[in-house]
Amino acid sequence: MCGIVGYVGKHPVTRVLIEGLRRLEYRGYDSAGVTVVKDGQFQTLKSTERVEALAKDVAKAKLQGTYGIAHTRWATHGGVTLANAHPHHSSDGLFSLAHNGVIENYLKIKKFLLEKGYTFQSETDTEVLVNLIAYHYQKQPVAADKNRFLESVRRSLRHVEGTYGIAVICKEHLGEIVAARRGSPLILGVGDGEHIIASDVAAIALHTQSVVYLNDEEIVHVTDKDFSLSTIDEDDIEAVIHTVDWSIEEAELGAFKHYMEKEIFDQPVALENAMRGRFSDDGSTSKFGGLNLSPQELRQVDRILFCACGTAWHACLVAEYLIERYARIPVEVEYASEFRYRNAPLDKNTLVFILSQSGETIDTLGALREAKRKGHKTLAIVNVVGSTIAREADGGIYQHAGPEIGVASTKAFTSQVMVAAMMALHLGRIRDMSYSEGQAFVEALKQVPAQVQSILDQSEAIKAIALKYVDAEDFLFLGRQNLFPIALEGALKLKEVSYIHAEGYPAAEMKHGPIALISPECPSVFLVAQEDTYQKTISNIQEVKARKGRVIAIAHEGGDFPKDLVDDLILIPECHPAVQPILATIPVQLMAYAIAAARGCDVDKPRNLAKSVTVE
Ligand code: AGP
Ligand code: GLU
Repeated sequence: MCGIVGYVGKHPVTRVLIEGLRRLEYRGYDSAGVTVVKDGQFQTLKSTERVEALAKDVAKAKLQGTYGIAHTRWATHGGVTLANAHPHHSSDGLFSLAHNGVIENYLKIKKFLLEKGYTFQSETDTEVLVNLIAYHYQKQPVAADKNRFLESVRRSLRHVEGTYGIAVICKEHLGEIVAARRGSPLILGVGDGEHIIASDVAAIALHTQSVVYLNDEEIVHVTDKDFSLSTIDEDDIEAVIHTVDWSIEEAELGAFKHYMEKEIFDQPVALENAMRGRFSDDGSTSKFGGLNLSPQELRQVDRILFCACGTAWHACLVAEYLIERYARIPVEVEYASEFRYRNAPLDKNTLVFILSQSGETIDTLGALREAKRKGHKTLAIVNVVGSTIAREADGGIYQHAGPEIGVASTKAFTSQVMVAAMMALHLGRIRDMSYSEGQAFVEALKQVPAQVQSILDQSEAIKAIALKYVDAEDFLFLGRQNLFPIALEGALKLKEVSYIHAEGYPAAEMKHGPIALISPECPSVFLVAQEDTYQKTISNIQEVKARKGRVIAIAHEGGDFPKDLVDDLILIPECHPAVQPILATIPVQLMAYAIAAARGCDVDKPRNLAKSVTVE
């Protein structure tokens, strides 16, 4: 996780670095720190609080410099202390380094360096790397001066096992930053007389729209006017400069109190954007520009494997229900972290689909690489344009949901489900779905943004219901068929942001264990489908009521739902069964948000979490 940023250029460096950290804070917020260079000396400030606290300290100390690096941490090695906060300095005082990732062989290297007389102030793996760089620097002849800094970083990285995105500065090479990556994202922003290095475009877009995405094993040497890109193995690389289409306004909070709330309300637009330009002229199927697979190739797919983590994994489960039902292709869903080490036997005609909002989740990236290594075609559904997964997959579909800043994923989830539904339609129409079924499907999808808006219009009423349960310490979320993943997602949202223990189950599974939890203190949220399993779910609600459990039901308008059976009822519009997972998600998001905000939780930055999990 972590966010790193480095800047050299004409603007006041502390302002650029702090602004960059603010935009990267969603990646980790255990501590933050900055090193700037003034009169050839490092000026370092760190805080074990949030970036805002660091910003105040920086202003108070009137910290100034000509260039520098900064970091916002998600601790892996060593607790949340000032000593462990980045940037870390080498014990000879020559280098300062910010790191995102894990140096797996750090103990071995530390032992070696201790024997050489290097000393350590922190428990981190990172401090080992900065000292290893100092060691390799000292080993080189001074005559090699010009490239000595770059070379010492390069040589050190050859000894490192694990992952890193790093930005390093050296007191003897003023005005230079060296940055490199393996496994953790790193992007170079190329400006006019300025360069900025960051973990995410969010920290760059304020300054320039021209970026170079570093690939694994690449290292860049940067000054204000120039940069050179090469591999760790010293091969020069011709940098490809991309233009990012990223508007700062989209990432602003506006009138909302939290990003999570804003992003819940962004959903009608995000869903519209997921569909834009993606239906055939006859309105009977969907089309995607970037699949890089012909209908003939898609027709040969016998099985689809979906891999993802967390909320994106829930979207994969919805995709399973939709693709199996509408395209009749067998689908499996795996946690990316399990797939990559399981050596699963996959049939040669298996298409591997990867879902990731950030496009940087290390486990998901690992699954993608494993599938490619085995020779499978890979497709990705990704939100962040230019992210590593988007670049490495054989083809894919961008979600166009706009930046998602809240750590708890909301609009990215419904937009993933929307893309999955469009994929089910696409694959279905290549197979047995008729023209008229296709048209009805397209019509249903087009109505979704307005239907979501109508649920958002009830947000005050949903909040009032949620607040009745604000003191509960346990919750169950129950749903059948394509609403079962929404039960999982509802439970995850609530636990992430409010720290209430919650579990999601298929409603029928409740009888096989979770029913033991039912009591007046443990409310159940039932997601009630419109068709097929409607009566069965009502019976499950009866079973909970018979045991004095409180029930909040989310059901469709226009049905005969027995209102008196439940404690609270939230109605969502009648709809095509393929889109009910999207509609049913909105109330559970609103409830999780309302409860967490009422409990005074830090909704956008829940404890222990980080938005983008780039360590294993
Ligand atoms: C969701 O609310 C999460 N915080 C988390 O589960 C997330 O969905 C997961 O880490 C995957 O992220 P990705 O979509 O960026 O790969
Ligand atoms: N391993 C480093 C630390 O614990 C960096 C962690 C990270 O990338 O999240 O400080």
